[in-house]
Amino acid sequence: MSNLELLKKELVETVRAANDIPALEEVRVTALGKKGKVTSLMQTLGCLSPEQRKEMGQALNKLKDEITAEIEAKSLLLKKAALDERLEKEKIDVTLSPRPSPKGTIHPISKTVEELVAIFADMGFSVAEGPDIEDDFHNFTALNFPEGHPARQMHDTFYLPEAAGKTRLLRTHTSTVQVHVMQMQKPPIRVIIPGRTYRSDYDMTHTPMFHQLEGLVIDKTTHMGHLKGCLIEFCRRFFEVDELPTRFRPSFFPFTEPSAEMDIGCSRAGGELKIGEGKDWLEILGCGMVHPNVLKNCGIDPDEYQGFAFGMGLERIAMLKYGIPDLRTFFESDVRWLKHYGFGPMEGA
Ligand code: DAH
Repeated sequence: MSNLELLKKELVETVRAANDIPALEEVRVTALGKKGKVTSLMQTLGCLSPEQRKEMGQALNKLKDEITAEIEAKSLLLKKAALDERLEKEKIDVTLSPRPSPKGTIHPISKTVEELVAIFADMGFSVAEGPDIEDDFHNFTALNFPEGHPARQMHDTFYLPEAAGKTRLLRTHTSTVQVHVMQMQKPPIRVIIPGRTYRSDYDMTHTPMFHQLEGLVIDKTTHMGHLKGCLIEFCRRFFEVDELPTRFRPSFFPFTEPSAEMDIGCSRAGGELKIGEGKDWLEILGCGMVHPNVLKNCGIDPDEYQGFAFGMGLERIAMLKYGIPDLRTFFESDVRWLKHYGFGPMEGA
């Protein structure tokens, strides 16, 4: 075997033996670097006769190309092996179950809406929604509020700049959506309407934005007995007390006749509120039979149809059920409060 063949054999073996990229680079420098074995041989070509130089020059160039090709092939192999190793190490098992302790919580208002929707869905109600920005007709006129009613006053209602000659305001109650539903849907109607409402008020028990849930049932023979049965069943399920005492007191709302307020039994003994026990009463919601004028204003014939409606404050019932003492904390976005009063995604599901 010639010297060049021996050198080739030796270099190919060292290339093949290199087991990572830095080792391979070292081999490349030893063979082809400035002071490398092949480079040094090339530098001796000047001392040879022209014929020998030509022959030796070709042989050395061939050797250089062969070793370069060997190094490139080995380099590809090593890079692929390194990538495979990384992929194996960084493998993620996408079939693993979700994180056992999620960081976020469900806000008590969202939780309350979920619960109300579940309870009323079981009674055949569907959910309706309407806009937060309303006109005078949907918020007041259609609901039988007379001109000059105190609720229409500037200091209770957030009025917005007029648009196209029309008054615009932030709805003061979700009863506005009763009007939209009756205008769009033919009876029988059975809807609940959870949503945001706005009033110009701020203290321990009032915030400028709060939530309500409105209910509306319209059919040919719906009467006060249906109203009572539906709301008693709702309160018992929501507060999870089977024998929850309830009472209906006469009241007044422009959009219902007769109107009532519903109370549930509770005890305040020792300053601690207990729902479902004792001799005290707690107001929960407003309700009544839809006023014939409201039906007429919404295009429904009051001689053929009648029904009931109810409305309640969601913060209020959430505070009672979950023992939350201050209304304003609902909207402060304090993560410690949310952690304490919030709910995990699977809780009570
Ligand atoms: N809209 C009333 C309020 O904001 C709540 C209410 C009371 C709604 C009686 C009703 C109802 O539908 O029948 O205070």
